[in-house]
Amino acid sequence: MLEVLEQLPADPILGLSAAFKQETNPKKVDLGVGVYKDEQGRTPILHAVAKAQNILLANEDSKTYISPQGVQGFIDGMLELLLGKGHKTLIEQRVAAVQAPGGCGSLRILAELLKRANGDLTVWVSDPTWANHIPLIGSAGLKIETYPYFDKNTASIKFDQMVACLEKVNKGDVVLLHGCCHNPTGADLTKEQWNKVLELAQQRGFLPFLDIAYLGFGDSIEDDAYGVRLLADNLPEVIIAASCSKNFGLYRERVGLAAIISANRQSRDALQTQIQAIARAIYSMPPSYGGALVDIILNNDELKSLWMDEVTEMRERMQTLRRLLADKIKEKSGKDFDFITRQKGMFSYLCISPEQVKRMRSEHAVYFVDSSRVNIAGISHQNVDYIAEALVAVL
Ligand code: LMR
Repeated sequence: MLEVLEQLPADPILGLSAAFKQETNPKKVDLGVGVYKDEQGRTPILHAVAKAQNILLANEDSKTYISPQGVQGFIDGMLELLLGKGHKTLIEQRVAAVQAPGGCGSLRILAELLKRANGDLTVWVSDPTWANHIPLIGSAGLKIETYPYFDKNTASIKFDQMVACLEKVNKGDVVLLHGCCHNPTGADLTKEQWNKVLELAQQRGFLPFLDIAYLGFGDSIEDDAYGVRLLADNLPEVIIAASCSKNFGLYRERVGLAAIISANRQSRDALQTQIQAIARAIYSMPPSYGGALVDIILNNDELKSLWMDEVTEMRERMQTLRRLLADKIKEKSGKDFDFITRQKGMFSYLCISPEQVKRMRSEHAVYFVDSSRVNIAGISHQNVDYIAEALVAVL
């Protein structure tokens, strides 16, 4: 019976890693999957995480089940990080939340919740958006539409067109927004643009769904949380999927937070039972380990400050690499790719065609996503000349 199922194509992002491993060109460069790398191309365990692991090892005395919502100290620490200490929604106990297996787990729980609330709603996602948003949200059975976001010709946000589209979104529909460091384009809304999005949400009555996986990789933790906090400050309901894969470097531990700011305490209590029931029906409860590490870090002043320094170091390295790549391209071709330096976080869209991306791969062994998204952290002082030369060759 199962033979009827056909082989699927490789995942557009994760499939690149497998292809890269097979590549025999010694000059090969991996700018594919969004994983932070240092100058030596390693993805190290953060020092704050290593210290937290030692503390956990010394103190964990049981492997019994954790509570269905996950590690409470993790949830509290993450909410404080995202919303700011003493946020009114926390004081008013209006936030329902669970620890989830990664950002993907959080997105899926929230999509399932939306489906339970109203199976007919439409989720609006940016064009383009992260390649896994549509499969994740679509698998919950929700309808998906796109709003204009990025103009490849100008390498900037088509904000007027985005606004014109959101002005027509129905009350009760959901608009997925990238909290910061837009994946795949690196093009973020300005504070003024966030203010306009808030105004539109108030006027149209749509529900913002914030995906925030790169907090601290844009400008700073506070600046990157601007959109989340603005909407949480001013709207009765906001849903948030956060990931600790990148900024804590906990990729394989699968640590995420699914949170819902609800209109009142009563609704919050109901929603808490709903998201726990959704999790129970899919995987019962989240793995404890990664959440326990984040709990230790965020609730220990010394480790939190060490972690923040490490986030700053990763961010500044990526900012330096952006400048370096744009400068090298200019030096070798006279072409202006300065937009790379204005984009934020781990990704940039090079705005070249899929054919040019394929040539980068086949002729130069430089691997990145067909959309022309590159992982900035995969660049180093050693490979930047090679990448720039390869790019100039295919332009
Ligand atoms: C990415 O966008 O490369 C990462 O978030 C990894 C993934 O799961 O796609």
